[in-house]
Amino acid sequence: MGMVAADRIFKILRTESQIEDLGTLNPDKIDGGISIKNLRFSYITGEEVLHGINLEIKPGEKIAVVGATGAGKSTIINLLSRFYEFDEGSILLDKNSIKDFSLNGLRKHIGIVLQDVFLFADTIYNNITLYDTDIDEEDVYYAAKEIGVHDFILSLPGGYQYNVKERGVMLSSGQRQLISFLRVYLSNPSILILDEATSNLDTERND
Ligand SMILES: Nc1ncnc2c1ncn2[C@@H]1O[C@H](COP(=O)(O)OP(=O)(O)OP(=O)(O)O)[C@@H](O)[C@H]1O
Ligand SMILES: [Mg+2]
Repeated sequence: MGMVAADRIFKILRTESQIEDLGTLNPDKIDGGISIKNLRFSYITGEEVLHGINLEIKPGEKIAVVGATGAGKSTIINLLSRFYEFDEGSILLDKNSIKDFSLNGLRKHIGIVLQDVFLFADTIYNNITLYDTDIDEEDVYYAAKEIGVHDFILSLPGGYQYNVKERGVMLSSGQRQLISFLRVYLSNPSILILDEATSNLDTERND
């Protein structure tokens, strides 16, 4: 059984990335202007998902993309983060093609809270910091208070040391989204993308 399992793991490790990391730009800071022009993309040849999208987002601007299910909203995020390569058109970040950035140089500026949140079988604290020792404990608490999730975490047995178990099954999906939001908020990215990040949350009135 061990041999079979090891074989499967090695197969995954041997997988070649289809995204070529040929860009060299790796700026410490970006303004965050995004310009999408005539963007076309299909996951499967012949089944086009994006049919020539145009979108201008200025630095500092907040925008919402609204559309029917399956319209291609999450796909735009996949292309901007270069999880997939687009077929036609261009995506510029600060006037440079996203392909001119190294993958790390691009992705380190982008923080995403996905539609499906993934938490590890570990404590809430480690799920937030992902073992990044540069993150101060005080910063975690401060950010949690800002987002309004600190009191909820303290109410759990062990507080920040509460183990959420495999895939975070010990939490509701709304609670998982909040933890994942906190994780991204702490990394303070120049581009913050929320893909229906609050779809499982009810509003809480404080008045
Ligand atoms: N990995 C994939 N492989 C093949 N087709 C995909 C893949 N991901 C999405 N699609 C298809 O691409 C289209 C757009 O999907 P996308 O996830 O971008 O929609 P969405 O606008 O985010 O929808 P929702 O509001 O439900 O999240 C859909 O028709 C979907 O079936
Ligand atoms: Mg989506």
